[in-house]
Amino acid sequence: MVLRFFPQKEKYTPEKSQLTFDPKQAIPKHIAIIMDGNGRWAKNRRLPRVAGHKEGMETVKKITKHANRLGVKVLTLYAFSTENWKRPDDEVNFLMQLPVDFFDTFVPELIEENVQVHVMGYEQYLPAHTQDAVKRAIEQTATNDGLVLNFALNYGSRAEILTAVKGIATEVQNNHLAVEEIDETVMGNHLMTGFLPEDLRDPELVIRTSGEERISNFLLWQLAYSELFFTKALWPDFDGEHLETAIADFQKRNRRFGGLDKEEKK
Ligand code: FPP
Repeated sequence: MVLRFFPQKEKYTPEKSQLTFDPKQAIPKHIAIIMDGNGRWAKNRRLPRVAGHKEGMETVKKITKHANRLGVKVLTLYAFSTENWKRPDDEVNFLMQLPVDFFDTFVPELIEENVQVHVMGYEQYLPAHTQDAVKRAIEQTATNDGLVLNFALNYGSRAEILTAVKGIATEVQNNHLAVEEIDETVMGNHLMTGFLPEDLRDPELVIRTSGEERISNFLLWQLAYSELFFTKALWPDFDGEHLETAIADFQKRNRRFGGLDKEEKK
């Protein structure tokens, strides 16, 4: 009899291959991902939580390359939220070291892949070594014009909206802007996605892994009309096939933006 002391849970992949993604149909230009389930992935293997984050970093590499090859223009990844500081110090320290390891090992490939790195969040509160690694990666990839790999790092959407509102209020107070001029474009310019061209700021597709179905303070303004895709796959298990399944699902959605279908208008 074979005794299995550490039975590994079977990889959960029911969403895979159920839908066929069509490369000829529109690929979402901006995909945003809430990378969830690293801790559970590690727990299933009797490993410390940080082992899940390390494996999650490998998934980031794979998915970045895959998204770039599919022609995605912007990939926004929720790597650390303004609320994640509540985690134990050891885990926070590990998460702050991850971008350093990621960029140290992966920037040459990002350059080869023509990927441009961007970070949005309250970077000034990150440890110095994390800030340095981020700055270096941004500089080293600044002239690339392929996929924008946009890390949300120490990011929280309510804080982002408050910062934007305060910025707009200050412009009004200093007579640089009239209240009547405040519109969605002005707001969009003040948000952390304001560095992107206007047509790329809002993700068309938001993916959350690990079976949780909530938004967790992520891009609250920008995802007003995003298509949401939830998968039970844990982030370290998420792969190119899962990504293509999410895109295939997106391609089947009927996006009306509050309007009507073509047929209904007739
Ligand atoms: C959520 O899973 C995940 C995070 C808070 C961290 C995400 C970070 C990575 C995927 C690596 C990022 C890589 C770079 C290069 C910055 P969880 O820990 O909440 O998982 P659980 O819900 O299963 O406990």
